[in-house]
Amino acid sequence: CGIVGYIGEQQAQNILLDGLSKLEYRGYDSAGLAIYNGETIGLTKAMGRIRNLEDKLQVRSLPGTIGIGHTRWATHGKPSDANSHPHMDNSDRFAVVHNGIIENYLELKEKLIAKGYIFRSETDTEVIVNLLADLWNGDLLATVQAAVKHLEGAYALAITSEYEPDKLIAVRYASPLIIGIGQGENFIASDIPAILKYTRDIYILEDGEMAVLTPDHVHLMRLDGTKIERDVMTVDWDITTAEKGGYDHFMMKEIYEQPKAIRDTLGSRIKEETVDLTNEIGLNKEEINEIERIHFVACGTAYHAGLVGKYVIEDLARIPVECDVASEYRYRNPIITAKTLVIVVSQSGETADTLAALREAKRQGARVLAITNVVGSSVAREADDVMITWAGPEIAVASTKAYTSQLIAIYLLGAYFAQEKELKTAAEITTIISELKQLPEKVEEVLQQEETVKAFATSIAKHNNLFFLGRGLDNAVGLEGSLKLKELSYIHSEAYAAGELKHGTLALIEEGIPVIALATQPAIYDKMVSNVEEVKARGAHVLGLTTVGNNELEKTVDEVIYIPAVSDLLSPVITVIPLQLLAYYACLARGYDVDKPRNLAKSVTVE
Ligand code: G6P
Repeated sequence: CGIVGYIGEQQAQNILLDGLSKLEYRGYDSAGLAIYNGETIGLTKAMGRIRNLEDKLQVRSLPGTIGIGHTRWATHGKPSDANSHPHMDNSDRFAVVHNGIIENYLELKEKLIAKGYIFRSETDTEVIVNLLADLWNGDLLATVQAAVKHLEGAYALAITSEYEPDKLIAVRYASPLIIGIGQGENFIASDIPAILKYTRDIYILEDGEMAVLTPDHVHLMRLDGTKIERDVMTVDWDITTAEKGGYDHFMMKEIYEQPKAIRDTLGSRIKEETVDLTNEIGLNKEEINEIERIHFVACGTAYHAGLVGKYVIEDLARIPVECDVASEYRYRNPIITAKTLVIVVSQSGETADTLAALREAKRQGARVLAITNVVGSSVAREADDVMITWAGPEIAVASTKAYTSQLIAIYLLGAYFAQEKELKTAAEITTIISELKQLPEKVEEVLQQEETVKAFATSIAKHNNLFFLGRGLDNAVGLEGSLKLKELSYIHSEAYAAGELKHGTLALIEEGIPVIALATQPAIYDKMVSNVEEVKARGAHVLGLTTVGNNELEKTVDEVIYIPAVSDLLSPVITVIPLQLLAYYACLARGYDVDKPRNLAKSVTVE
């Protein structure tokens, strides 16, 4: 989502609209503005692209020089006018725009409803604005400070109130927010592009900080009111660099967003020492016990997440799992009963084949769970149960953060089923949870290998063929690495189950051919080393990928990338990172378009 705020002497409407249009890449299912007109706060919201909001404002504009705006990427509640931001309290005294997720919103909402507050949307944001009304004590800053104490989760907020219309308040907690400093005017924005046209001088708010803006001043403080001093930062990015968060391409930005995407996807689904999916999976213990088989159905990268899902769910939940590409599934004659759980995985939630497979599965009586990145997407609307991956909008055609978030959703599901079926002890579940929580840091660690991967990527760029070898989960990840490389660098590659090599593919190994050997699975590590020796003996140039401490591989391969050790089941989340970087740098080395590979589309809505 995107946030913009303005306080100054100019009319706010067009400045806010302009800012929102620069943030449309962050989410675009609805947008809205709230502007103080000297007496009251005027509010206009519209579903769909910002164009729709502009059309409404052409008919009836919002006068005033203080306001906030938002472009939304739905989290809680489907895209609709009512669910769009800004939100206002029951007496229309406060307006708030919000990015992030309030994890305890249901609890807060119940309390507010009990006090007589009426909720007009399904969003988590509306609790904030009613909380402000409820806690109003005659002082806007103090009221905001009191309100945020009740909030759990992540939030970036811009707040305006009719009670003190001479100021805007910005709050940041685990969701980015910046302040733009102008002459006789100041700005709030979730991202730099929104305000770049008006100012290059900014303050970046850190977690737990807030700002009070008037036209002439910006007061920075911690949430408890302690004043802070901060140097003004001058942004020298152009608008396109700013949109990409300073990275050269959306893909790289999204690769680096993975720790956050993983954290957000784990989010409120972990309650102390248990996995809680009761709000998402409408099956009770008994019904979970009755699931006889699971089918993962998806396309492209999402299908590869399903392949990992087969290992994970079978291992944790002991339910037989099949995994199909949607275009095959829909036309074959799969065995589907009322005791089949079909899990469709789709970043966009709009892929035609996946949607058709979902409908076919439902028609045949299966229960369907959707794992998708887009709230309110077709797949989300039609499935019985939905787990959202909180990766945020993914712009690059080659999927990265959506894939790792899909894996996280699948781990949570596997652990949840194991817990509900009592296949794992409480201690075992606690261990899985703590390992999941460590993943963001481990992903950050492996991202530090960027330069090593880049060097290898440059060395393979002149080749037209290469192989990914791995066993077990490494093979599943190899398939994703191979797809990424094909999509971006147009180098032909194949991912092979290493043990299958000698049954044909070994004939293709010749002097100098690059091979990427994935060896992260301890139980089959030695076998993998033998397979590497087979290709080395035939002249392959091998990049090994293994966990820290596995020094054996180093003796056999040409180069090694060490990744942090995690439990076997979770390793795909880490292993895939260097492969994403490899595809990225191979693409650059060959001079192709990273974010828009030829012939491909982000979302394939035709068969
Ligand atoms: C397209 C994209 C892929 C994606 C696949 C499935 O082919 O280019 O990156 O994996 O569709 O998309 P979905 O939105 O269903 O995950």
